[in-house]
Amino acid sequence: MTEARGVPDVTAEELARLDEACFPAAERWTVAAWAGELRAADRRIGIRRVDGRLAAAATVQVVADVADLHRILVDPRYRGRRMATGLLAEMLAMAVSAGAVRVLLEVRRDNTAALALYRGAGFTAIAARADYYGPGADALVMEATLVVPPGQVGGAPRTHPDSGLPGLM
Ligand SMILES: CC(C)(COP(=O)(O)OP(=O)(O)OC[C@H]1O[C@@H](n2cnc3c(N)ncnc32)[C@H](O)[C@@H]1OP(=O)(O)O)[C@@H](O)C(=O)NCCC(=O)NCCS
Repeated sequence: MTEARGVPDVTAEELARLDEACFPAAERWTVAAWAGELRAADRRIGIRRVDGRLAAAATVQVVADVADLHRILVDPRYRGRRMATGLLAEMLAMAVSAGAVRVLLEVRRDNTAALALYRGAGFTAIAARADYYGPGADALVMEATLVVPPGQVGGAPRTHPDSGLPGLM
């Protein structure tokens, strides 16, 4: 199933400013990189604002039935309020609506907060990539399988019941 792609009301400049507050220089996305995400037809972007200020964003690519979570970031001022948890659930729902049944992502092995976020959402590590983020900075590849409960097409996705993983919502 596919649906019209909604692009949120946000600029690449705002996204790059948020990125700068969230990532070390070597891992930052530029304005041009974010503009590419906003333009690409196979991306879904989600944002959160607090008093008009961009507080969080996420982007996922969906190709056929596989989604790839490219980025999720929350302004340090707004962390620890489950903003990323809610945004991730929204991104997975968007991915399911676009036809995804499986979601993959890469995360730095030492990114404690992101690992807690992803594990809490039902992702499991399926592989490691040495030096993915530079010398000594390994990545874990994580995966979640999604199903939509019968009769709830377009509703909240859940991890596959056979996987033994907790629900996503
Ligand atoms: C990872 C990130 C998006 C989490 O955002 P957040 O809104 O603070 O996350 P949430 O409040 O939804 O918390 C999600 C889970 O992670 C845990 N967590 C959050 N920050 C944590 C930390 N510093 N250390 C350990 N666990 C942490 C929470 O306890 C929560 O688990 P729980 O529901 O079992 O309590 C945020 O820290 C961030 O933007 N980091 C920089 C960018 C990044 O690394 N993005 C991920 C790779 S693209």
